[in-house]
Amino acid sequence: DSPEKYLGMIRPSQDQQFGDYQANFAMPMSKELGKAPRDVASEVIAKLNVSEFCHPPEVAGPGFINLKLKDEWLKESLNQIKNDDRLGVQSVESSRKYIVDYSAPNVAKPAHVGHLRSTVIGNALYRVLQFLGHDAVSDNHIGDWGTQFGMIIYGYKNFLDQQSYEKKPVEELARLYRLVSQLSDFQSAVKSLPQLNAKLDEATQRLVDLEKADSSKKGYKKKLKKARSDIQNQKSGIVSCEARIELIKNDPVLKELADGHPDIAEKARLETAKLHSGDQENLALWEKFIPHCLETLQEMYDRLDISFDMSLGESYYQPMLSKVVESLKEKGLAKESEGAICVFHESNAAPFIVQKTDGAFTYATTDLATVEYRVNELKADCILYVVDSRQGEHFKLLFETAKAWGYDSVEFHHVNFGTILGEDRRPFKTRSGEVIGLGSLLDEAVSRARATVNANDDAREKPELDDASRAAIAETVGIGGIKYADLHHNRESDYIFNWDKMLSVTGDTATYIQYSYARINGIFRRGNVDLARIREEVELCLDNPAERGLAIQVLQYSEILDQVIKELKPNLLTDYLFGTANSFSTFYEKCPVLKEENEELRNSRLFLCDLTSRILKHGLSLLGINTSEKM
Ligand code: ARG
Repeated sequence: DSPEKYLGMIRPSQDQQFGDYQANFAMPMSKELGKAPRDVASEVIAKLNVSEFCHPPEVAGPGFINLKLKDEWLKESLNQIKNDDRLGVQSVESSRKYIVDYSAPNVAKPAHVGHLRSTVIGNALYRVLQFLGHDAVSDNHIGDWGTQFGMIIYGYKNFLDQQSYEKKPVEELARLYRLVSQLSDFQSAVKSLPQLNAKLDEATQRLVDLEKADSSKKGYKKKLKKARSDIQNQKSGIVSCEARIELIKNDPVLKELADGHPDIAEKARLETAKLHSGDQENLALWEKFIPHCLETLQEMYDRLDISFDMSLGESYYQPMLSKVVESLKEKGLAKESEGAICVFHESNAAPFIVQKTDGAFTYATTDLATVEYRVNELKADCILYVVDSRQGEHFKLLFETAKAWGYDSVEFHHVNFGTILGEDRRPFKTRSGEVIGLGSLLDEAVSRARATVNANDDAREKPELDDASRAAIAETVGIGGIKYADLHHNRESDYIFNWDKMLSVTGDTATYIQYSYARINGIFRRGNVDLARIREEVELCLDNPAERGLAIQVLQYSEILDQVIKELKPNLLTDYLFGTANSFSTFYEKCPVLKEENEELRNSRLFLCDLTSRILKHGLSLLGINTSEKM
């Protein structure tokens, strides 16, 4: 059996009395080998050759192997990274070409909170890959060819305010998009309200029946709970439906527009179809709109400090799509089914549709063309798609189809992630039910951060920060806070957006780590410390367990980054940085630094401070989060 799966079972110990690392693979191995776990552990130890860096390993409890690192080895390892900008992280031996497909919003719709996760997670993975020495290329696969353009084109042809467009095209296009979607939402809400009410009646009736039924039956409580939550769900669906109707009904201007443009959704769809079939007028409009759409996007990326190596949107692949379908047919992979061209896979009930009945190509076709381009032109070894979990089936079918099509030596990963929820556990929206614009979200983060920064500085005997620095720090804390909140959750789970948790000075937040970093820099400033000299002359002392703990923490940086890429999980890095900040805080409580009178010891501790601050800054930077020396 491969040792791979057991390697992950060697982990840092929770408690230093069990050594620094603990391995618990003897238990599962014993089952496979049919021996007692303690015997397996002893056998392993007997064959182990770790004396260079480790005290003789010990077997403990049911069969744990405890490993304690030698102080000499720790000191030597720390000395080696003294002046190393890479903090002990070596570049990979064989660099691979990674394409990181992330962010990829559908442009022309206003950016909202849902766009954040892909952008932030993808960017962090990209930065780590690059730092590890891989040839990583970030590609923003923007949705610039979708149905939203039909909506804007329809709006442009019917509702344009020429003067506004000339003055502020971006705003005017956003207004047109909103207007058309409001009108079409209204019309579909009017249509579906009677059905929703009927469903509510049904659900209510089910509850009434259930309440009359025998409550001692098995599963009764569960059924009751389900019936009640069904009613709740129906009700909230109706509330939001009614809200969409009210919005228009209460506005005479909008109401007139809605009445004058019945079936607006269908008309917008026809505009999209015209665009896709090469209609000159619509194509010209599309070309006119695109730069404005990209401009708004760019504002968001600038603020988030994110850029891409390339942004080949969906439109780029349009000329290649018919060939893709031809090739799939030739290879016997795609066939006609009910008028559409489909690729069937045994693993999935629904096929991968590459051409619809009306002849239109799909999201799937575009993604296949993109694979072809990335492998043949960009020479990709590995493609990461940082996209919402809800697209799981699409990517499963994409990868299977691509492999069958001949792209079987490429590694594909759907780096999936969950949804950002509001306190009510529903997708995060404003009170009135609209999605939250990304711009205003970032503004709010910064203004809340500003309050924290002010309070913290005002609490000092002598405040240290002038207005401009407070503003700059608030930007760092606010944007960093948002990014970290997103990164520190296991990406596969949904998470609840919470401002207070996000910006808390004491929890698992960017703010806490940024403050730890600033705190260390404060030590250097107060002590007028010459770091270059300290690095040169330091004699390390690791007698205190808190010093040892911090030293080991610092030396784990490299293995953590490897793990981040192995699992494609940036939260392993946030966990590590949080752990490092905690180790520092314990160290700083237990070990005086500037007040330490023994100069050698003082310098040794200052050196540990130096390494910690470098790790915190560097680690945060790999997550796309800035730091400030003073806070
Ligand atoms: N634009 C798509 C969306 O917003 C995401 C695209 C992800 N990348 C891809 N190659 N499919 O849903």
